[in-house]
Amino acid sequence: MKAIVIKNYGGSEALQFADVPTPSITNPSQVLVKVKATSVNPLDYQIRRGDYASLFDLPMITGHDIAGDIVAVGDAVKNWKPGDKVYYSPRFGSIGSYAEYHITNESSLSRMPDNITYEEAASIPLIGGTVWEMLVVRAQLKKGETILILGGAGGVGTLAIQVAKSLGAFVYTTGQSILHEKLQNLGADIIIDHHQKNYIEEIQTHTNGKGVDVIIDTVGGSTLSNSPLALADYGRIVTLVDIPQPQNLIHAWEKNATYHFVFTRQSRDEVHHITQLIESGHVKPVIDSIFPLEDIQSAHERIEDKKRIQPLFGKIVLSL
Ligand SMILES: NC(=O)c1ccc[n+]([C@@H]2O[C@H](COP(=O)([O-])OP(=O)(O)OC[C@H]3O[C@@H](n4cnc5c(N)ncnc54)[C@H](OP(=O)(O)O)[C@@H]3O)[C@@H](O)[C@H]2O)c1
Repeated sequence: MKAIVIKNYGGSEALQFADVPTPSITNPSQVLVKVKATSVNPLDYQIRRGDYASLFDLPMITGHDIAGDIVAVGDAVKNWKPGDKVYYSPRFGSIGSYAEYHITNESSLSRMPDNITYEEAASIPLIGGTVWEMLVVRAQLKKGETILILGGAGGVGTLAIQVAKSLGAFVYTTGQSILHEKLQNLGADIIIDHHQKNYIEEIQTHTNGKGVDVIIDTVGGSTLSNSPLALADYGRIVTLVDIPQPQNLIHAWEKNATYHFVFTRQSRDEVHHITQLIESGHVKPVIDSIFPLEDIQSAHERIEDKKRIQPLFGKIVLSL
């Protein structure tokens, strides 16, 4: 089969198209999936450039989202059959999705929503589980609460806005002015252009100094230290971004803040909630662009390009 193989860590040129053996079922609870679409996550370029080198052996195949068709099932698999459309996130550390076929355990599979395409479905599993974990499991966001989603135009942000809205929250987010209408259409109530304005001052003004109940950090940097200045008393901050440096949390102490640190463990139950929101029309996958798998280097260059002329909005998808 065709696959994108990393033989050496590096830039986008480290992603090489190659012929590799098609995997086959070796365990009765496994299924073989024909990959129809996959996506690009920051985790993929972090792995490609060697951020997790101690955890992987080269050569390797990365990629963390799959939408596709089951083509074969192991003897113990009772709930799935060839032809079923599925979507899921390959486990961190296992063989990834940048290939024509993928083997997985049936426990990781979710039924693909019936009202979206393979490309739309491939944009969801990793961020879907992440967003549900952040908003519902950790922050326990409630109807009528206020939330600030930092990085609203990114893969995580575009989904988080929609899920927060469906839970009945008042949503503040950050995003470039050129994207304001699109962010509003997702359900954002107030949009702060992070290239022009200071989000802490803006939140202070909009909330009359009270701050928001929940802050979602998808951007890192000084957010852990400074965002409590935009937080209400006893508020919650949920962060996805690991920063291997000491952080000054004095402002968090002043606010009696609770921090949640999230490193997504792929969970079929959490993706199931997103499936329901997609099928009920509350959530729509947001696709920035679609590249053929052969053009994966361009896809990685787009997500990593911090000076891109056309700002990112949603997920970059790879079609097979
Ligand atoms: N821990 C986990 O389990 C987990 C899971 C998923 C994702 N993540 C992490 O979460 C982060 C976001 O993921 P993603 O898929 O959403 O990334 P993405 O699609 O690349 O989006 C990044 C977004 O953040 C915005 N941004 C960058 N710097 C900003 C700043 N200082 N203030 C406000 N917005 C800013 C960008 O806007 P501009 O275009 O204006 O720069 C862009 O819209 C990544 O670091 C990823 O590794 C972690």
